[in-house]
Amino acid sequence: MSNQHERVEKNVGWLSIFMIIAISIGGLVEITPLIFQSQTNEPIVGLKPYTALQLEGRDIYIREGCNNCHSQMIRPFRSETERYGHYSLAGEHVWEHPFLWGSKRTGPDLARVGGRYSDEWHHVHLHNPRDVVPQSNMPAFPWLAENTLDGELTAKKMEVFRGFGVPYTDEDIAGAKAAVTGKTEMEALIAYLQSLGTSLSEADKAMRESE
Ligand code: HEC
Repeated sequence: MSNQHERVEKNVGWLSIFMIIAISIGGLVEITPLIFQSQTNEPIVGLKPYTALQLEGRDIYIREGCNNCHSQMIRPFRSETERYGHYSLAGEHVWEHPFLWGSKRTGPDLARVGGRYSDEWHHVHLHNPRDVVPQSNMPAFPWLAENTLDGELTAKKMEVFRGFGVPYTDEDIAGAKAAVTGKTEMEALIAYLQSLGTSLSEADKAMRESE
């Protein structure tokens, strides 16, 4: 028995193969149950899909690389929930394709930034962060206020998301182009930021009111 163990440990090929098998079993045991749990694949009560304008804002967020400095995932620790609010739930993100959770935090987590500041604050901050946070090292994004959206692809994007199970109605899709045309990229991005993490607090409020 000990002889065989030695043979595996001294042979890089066998060692690698057995390591891969061991890690795969460990991974499957952790991951497989999550695929079937309703807690991880059903939306929370009151979750709303992004509006056409918010959806365009999300694409700008990805294009500008905001997610390279900002995570959108509040971990269930006191130090995080005191600062950012309720920890993130899987059910808040089931309609996100792709997820923007991340772990790199050069800036603060943005999972619940919606409603924390006024639209005007975001406008000034994105135009030049130093105007509102003097010590900020976040880059300025002044061009967002100049570029306007043409809405050519918005309806198509929503159709694709509907294919992934996001409950967009025919009216949402039909009205998409009109909802975004002529709006600036800044307006779209701010609409997106203001929506982040708000479904949970609204669901919570509705529940308290009905009690
Ligand atoms: C190089 C890293 C970096 C990039 C890229 C970046 N940020 Fe930031 N962001 C920061 C830092 C650092 C702060 C904290 C200082 C401040 O408020 O400006 C911050 C703060 C913020 C805040 C305020 C959060 C709060 O709770 O106070 C918002 C909102 C924000 N960023 C949005 C964005 C958006 C939207 C983008 C993309 C257009 C972006 N950031 C890109 C680093 C970055």
